[in-house]
Amino acid sequence: QEGQPMLFGMPLKYVSLLTLAVQNAALSVVMHYSRVSTPPSLSYSPATAVLLNEIIKGSISFVIAFLRTSSNPPTSPSARRFATNFANASWFSRLRFLLAEIFAPDCVKLSIPAILYVIQNSLQFVAISNLPVASFQVAYQMKILTTAAFSVALLGKRLTNTKWMALFFLALGVGIVQIQTSTGSSASVPRDVVGSAAAAAPNGHVMNPLKGFAAVTAACFTSGLAGVYFEMVLKNSKADLWIRNVQLSLFSLIPALVPIIYAPKPTIPSPVPPSFFGDLFKNFGGWAWATVMIQVFGGLVTALVIKYSDNIMKGFATSLSIIISFLASVILFNFKLTPSFMLGSTTVLVATWMYNQPSVVPPTPAVTISSG
Ligand code: C5P
Repeated sequence: QEGQPMLFGMPLKYVSLLTLAVQNAALSVVMHYSRVSTPPSLSYSPATAVLLNEIIKGSISFVIAFLRTSSNPPTSPSARRFATNFANASWFSRLRFLLAEIFAPDCVKLSIPAILYVIQNSLQFVAISNLPVASFQVAYQMKILTTAAFSVALLGKRLTNTKWMALFFLALGVGIVQIQTSTGSSASVPRDVVGSAAAAAPNGHVMNPLKGFAAVTAACFTSGLAGVYFEMVLKNSKADLWIRNVQLSLFSLIPALVPIIYAPKPTIPSPVPPSFFGDLFKNFGGWAWATVMIQVFGGLVTALVIKYSDNIMKGFATSLSIIISFLASVILFNFKLTPSFMLGSTTVLVATWMYNQPSVVPPTPAVTISSG
């Protein structure tokens, strides 16, 4: 597309969509493993992971936003008073400009998606601790439908018949893949990584699929609403994406801190003296850090996808991640490709191609960068 930023000779839109697909596949495997590979008594706190995710993501966004101040004209009047010529401004005036931009009155708009994302990120931990990876990933695809519904309702987006049909085929493809998952042809796969039926792992971790499905369904709704709301804020204002990300992380800190502050205190005092951070980093090992870092990366790529593409396309990218994680299972876990898997994944690919066909419906004024 004309005017689209490029990376490695490819439009950033496609690079970010592909990256997101790979990131999603990696996240579900690593996150699931980080939760079920230890007995419950040795598991880490998801609340800490959610909080760390926001702190790290917010800090990275802040640094990027700061580096961009020299090329980015300020949009809010409160920020404009700090410097006129940003190319030659001192770092101190650039910092003051950035802070004024971050705390501009319209930052409150980000409070809604911030709260929704914290709820979603917490629900994701519940879901992935109680469902096998494949079932989780397939069920999480329902967010494509919730996102489409919220895009139509809130952004006034109009979908052509082809796009509605693409959504239908996507649901169909996901359903076919799910049949493959639930019929247990993943028997050759280690059960606690990509396996089918939920059961108690040898280490005592018990999965509760009903709880998992309830959490994943709720997460689909928050995902659709938060994503569309963020898109609305981003595309209806001139503020820089990275400044919006900092605002999003700042507002997330409040709901992310609540479960940590109100966490029940252990009744039996630990023989080890409490550290400066208390129980915050208890059992927080390599897999927990890997989960957080993949999540941080995913959050940043998600923001790029929402800016340069749109939320519905983001859904299609993540549905491709089902295929990537299944293919990874073939290589890593000797997973057998069945005809139903091939049919389901081909349907998903065709649906993605169909959705990406040029639209004949003119874009609505609210959406300036369309997916088509
Ligand atoms: O599943 P879904 O694509 O809705 O997940 C979005 C994820 O991306 C959430 O974890 C959310 O915290 C993150 N995100 C972000 N920054 C944005 C938008 C989303 O970190 N600007």
